[in-house]
Amino acid sequence: MFNKLKNIAAKFAIKYIQNNNIIGIGSGTTISHFIDLLPTVKHNIKGVVSASENSTKKLKKYNFNILNINEIKKISMYFDSADEINYKMQMIKGGGAALTNEKIISNLSETFVCIIDESKYVKYLGIHPVPIEIIPLAKNFIIQKLSYIGATAKLRINTITEHGNLILDIYNLDLDNPIKMEKYINNIPGIVTVGLFTQKCADIVIIGNKNYTVSVIDKKK
Ligand code: 5RP
Repeated sequence: MFNKLKNIAAKFAIKYIQNNNIIGIGSGTTISHFIDLLPTVKHNIKGVVSASENSTKKLKKYNFNILNINEIKKISMYFDSADEINYKMQMIKGGGAALTNEKIISNLSETFVCIIDESKYVKYLGIHPVPIEIIPLAKNFIIQKLSYIGATAKLRINTITEHGNLILDIYNLDLDNPIKMEKYINNIPGIVTVGLFTQKCADIVIIGNKNYTVSVIDKKK
């Protein structure tokens, strides 16, 4: 059922593509639905910056103009999903291990459109563990450092990121103040990216509901 809800939300999100702009594309199953719908609005897409090899592969299949992140100063809209998002539009991301590119591209974007099924819209962040991308040699140091704040880290097996790094999934983090926690984790040496997105949050959330309706929350309205 969640797949269907991701699809109806993705269909709705397609309407936001206008004016022949450069767009950013995240990764994961929701975004995979979204990419399959993109050819219908190809005339309105000047180029695409992609957050993962999987998304790039799919976009290439549809002959989109793929742009390198380093060539771009600004992206008009970034489309991605999340593992969780709260009413403040803060998110946990990184289920697909592409969090570093996702964070860079979302920070380059004027508007972040987050496409989700209803189950991901939560009151408080923290149902899912928080992924972090880490430099391999810092693994044990980081696990120990996080244990001092009561958190436990689980190495994601068979996962090497596109940057050659590891993913730790962090449980039992105190997320009463997710902004503070994002900053705290960012300060630990050896951590490349934390999957808490509390500084650059989503601007628009498009939710596929269980009754097959779509809800939109737009921070700018
Ligand atoms: C990948 C992500 C995804 O947006 C998140 O994991 C949601 O994935 P899906 O659309 O497959 O449910 O952050 O790093």
